[in-house]
Amino acid sequence: MPEEFTHEDPRIVELRSVREKIRQGGGAERIKIQHAKGKLTARERLDILLDPGTFNELEPYITHQGDEMGIANEKFMGDGVVTGYGQIDGRTIYVYAQDFTVYGGTLSEMQSHKICRVMDLAVRNGAPIIGLIDSGGARIQEGVKSLGGYAEIFRRNAQYSGVIPQISLMLGPCAGGAAYSPALTDLIIMVEEKSFMFLTGPEVIKTVTGETTDAESLGGAAVHLGISGTAHLATESETDALLLARRLLGYFPSNNVENPPYQPPVDDPLRMDEVLNHIVPLSPSESYSMHEVILHVIDQGSFIEIQPTWAPNAIVGLARIGGHSVGIVAQEPSAMAGVIDINSADKMARFVRMCDCFNIPLVTFVDSPGFLPGIGQEHGGVIRHGAKLLYAYSEATVPKVTVITRKAYGGAYVVMSSKFLGTDVTYAWPSAEIAVMGAEGAVNILFKKQITSAADPAQERQSLVEDYRDRFNNPYYAARAGYVDDIVEPRETRPKIIASLAALRDKVSIAPARKHGNIPV
Ligand code: HXC
Repeated sequence: MPEEFTHEDPRIVELRSVREKIRQGGGAERIKIQHAKGKLTARERLDILLDPGTFNELEPYITHQGDEMGIANEKFMGDGVVTGYGQIDGRTIYVYAQDFTVYGGTLSEMQSHKICRVMDLAVRNGAPIIGLIDSGGARIQEGVKSLGGYAEIFRRNAQYSGVIPQISLMLGPCAGGAAYSPALTDLIIMVEEKSFMFLTGPEVIKTVTGETTDAESLGGAAVHLGISGTAHLATESETDALLLARRLLGYFPSNNVENPPYQPPVDDPLRMDEVLNHIVPLSPSESYSMHEVILHVIDQGSFIEIQPTWAPNAIVGLARIGGHSVGIVAQEPSAMAGVIDINSADKMARFVRMCDCFNIPLVTFVDSPGFLPGIGQEHGGVIRHGAKLLYAYSEATVPKVTVITRKAYGGAYVVMSSKFLGTDVTYAWPSAEIAVMGAEGAVNILFKKQITSAADPAQERQSLVEDYRDRFNNPYYAARAGYVDDIVEPRETRPKIIASLAALRDKVSIAPARKHGNIPV
């Protein structure tokens, strides 16, 4: 080795030592505590999330500029968040990972500058942003500066919504603002028993309302997946959550002017699936699994169901059909007969809008007896919530294909991507029943007097019901009137959908210019 290379330049030695210090975040002791809680550090998480060797960090030298409550001299480089860019499956993404070992990952003014910077770079470059959230919320010592910092992030979450995909992974106790920013993003993934989301924690609740609770029962994954509907997916481990985020991104384009990436299908696009011909029972009151229908139609192994345990009477999820990314929306007849209620309307409406933002075509499977009747639903605003679904389908300009497998009664027919809401192609199975309402209900309303005055009212009702069924409980009346494009054998559904989507790939649909619509929130 030449003489000049035998001694290290002290400036490089210093840089290396500073870099090592940066890697230590809040210090070895706090990293130990993080590991003891079964959690990874911010950098370990990034190693799993990104393609190996692709992470490039930005602004790791930034420290907080606070001087209140004794923190002026306690500074950690990076200030509790690791930011930068890297790749997932060779595509650029921007990322920020909060470092719980520094002030509990809390948001300071400078931390918010770092996060906003990667958000801005992401949108300028048309690349997705992923947030790895592990934070106690606003940093108390910075007062209004940390609150303002959150406002800066929220504003960007909102303004960049529908421009680039935003995904949040909840990897710790995410309090206050740390819960609100994710709520503005497209998808939230939680880790069972490791991540929590709440605006105010158990201690504050005890003080204010006197209620006793703990973090898990207040805002754990089971709560936000099953009760509040705030989160979209949960995994057993952090590693699984990070790998799921990688997989999810494969269904999204990098931004709203690109199409989702195509993957050559591993499943035959022309596959006719005989099983489909035997799923819908002959009796209209017997249930079956729409999940099974979906799994037999899509490319095998491609379904990622979103919000599987909240409002299970509706199904939403991402899949591939013929190698192309699609959004699946459906009813599950084996859960509350597939009725549409407040929560399922919200669930479907939000998903439809997310797919439309990102040019993901919609495939809708319909089997619903209609909206759920009841005082609770009416007083809870089922009209307003159902209107969101009407709004979402009506404004969606992506290719839309509908398959009516069985019941499409009344409001359910209309809201579930019906032809005159702008759906491109509508198929019905021979088992489809398309009518204003079911036979019994209709006969009771239309023929009350005729039934009561008949010699044998039961016999009279039965014959009227059968007549109604012959007339409306089939797809032929709707097809003759042009409300259904074709009646297909269930086994033909996959190739029919693939052909329709291929024919719709270059669809252009220009809406009138406006600032934005006024969706009934
Ligand atoms: C400053 C904080 C902090 C905070 C935690 N820390 N929260 N520092 N501001 N908000 C620090 C702790 O002092 C500790 O520092 C380290 O982070 C780890 O915290 P622990 O309590 O030891 O950890 P743990 O037991 O795991 O509990 C984590 C926690 C709890 C559940 C997050 O710390 C907590 O409840 N914090 C307060 C949460 C909160 O109410 N935040 C404000 C939300 S209001 P050391 O030095 O010991 O490592 C908000 C407004 C936004 O965000 C408005 C949105 C609309």
